[in-house]
Amino acid sequence: AAAQGFHGVHQAGVVTPKRRCAAFVAFDVMAADRPGLLDLFGTLTDRLRFLTTGGVPEPLGISAPPSDSGVLGPTVPGGSLTALLGVGASLFDDRFGLASAKPLRLSTMTAFPDDDLDPAQCGGDLLLQLETDDTDVLANALRDVARHTRGAMQVRWRIDGFASPPRPVGTPRNLMGFRDGTANPDVTDGRLMDQLIWVGAGQGEPAWATGGSYLAVRLIRMLVEFWDRVGLNEQERMFGRQKDSGAPLDGRTETDVPNFAADPTGDVIPMDSHIRLANPRTAPTADQRLLRRGFNYDRGTDPNGNLDMGLVFCAFQQDLERQFVTVQRRLAGEPLVDYISPFGGGYFFALPGVRDANDRYGRGLL
Ligand code: HEM
Repeated sequence: AAAQGFHGVHQAGVVTPKRRCAAFVAFDVMAADRPGLLDLFGTLTDRLRFLTTGGVPEPLGISAPPSDSGVLGPTVPGGSLTALLGVGASLFDDRFGLASAKPLRLSTMTAFPDDDLDPAQCGGDLLLQLETDDTDVLANALRDVARHTRGAMQVRWRIDGFASPPRPVGTPRNLMGFRDGTANPDVTDGRLMDQLIWVGAGQGEPAWATGGSYLAVRLIRMLVEFWDRVGLNEQERMFGRQKDSGAPLDGRTETDVPNFAADPTGDVIPMDSHIRLANPRTAPTADQRLLRRGFNYDRGTDPNGNLDMGLVFCAFQQDLERQFVTVQRRLAGEPLVDYISPFGGGYFFALPGVRDANDRYGRGLL
């Protein structure tokens, strides 16, 4: 739980372990001017500090509406929520005079060849990534944030997700039944995180951005009915890994590293398999590695009665163009595209951490 505390150089929710339930909520800022935005950042800091650290909601007497929903009883349990706040490129338009302070590599997500984007489920001035092990904690947090920020921001889109436990061991699976996250860079390797994930000095970024990270969120529906009619062998060749063990097709265990050099024509791991396209493991691509931290989603059924399930793909990195965009371009036309449909998401800059009780989100920016 200590690793998920509210205060720190970096926000929790990047290198901290995923929790069982998540909500990704994008907001449009309604505040009219810079003081209004400053006030909003202050409120978000106060509420998310309280909701993550826990404590007794302020008593307001019997004639006032209670200061919190009461969903969690008399005390908000400490450590039950992990919150991460990001900002989108649209926050740096003319409204708040922030154009010159924009994180250098923050842009608006544009469509890739196989996308079917719904503008209503894309973008946003702010993104809140909430995680918890209990859905009532999520419900309470969202009610609390909505209530305290009323008039200053409004929900643009929202999607809830969940992570499976290991089934039966190893990295949790996505809804295609494959272990997802295996080849991620090691989050306990601080030096590697500084090379790949965190924004720091010497990268041309504004000073206030140090300690932040870029976040690509992609809402990707999986056409699960269609997928479930594909032969096992073909499924495995699409990813380049075994479904059961998660091992690369040239290996035996999940942690075995694929040896593409020994298979130059893709006889064992097809050249157009997901892992081979995503990370060809050649020297020039080492700095393109990203930290994938996605969640499964299940939104019931669509109007045609088809299951509306998929992946809230979520990846952190130092540079969107160098990492996510480059990898995504390489994946264009992969066999998997017939079974998935990206429909929403956006690019955000996860703010640096709130250092201590006197600090707040966006210090140095506003
Ligand atoms: C690896 C699934 C979308 C980038 C993998 C693996 C699976 C998987 C099963 C192998 C295990 C692992 O290392 O995690 C999926 C599914 C997707 C999806 C089901 C969509 C529904 C994406 C997207 C990107 C991406 C949009 C980035 C643009 C990667 C990378 C790897 C990977 C970089 C690691 C490759 C390696 O180093 O071996 N994915 N993925 N994936 N995926 Fe995806």
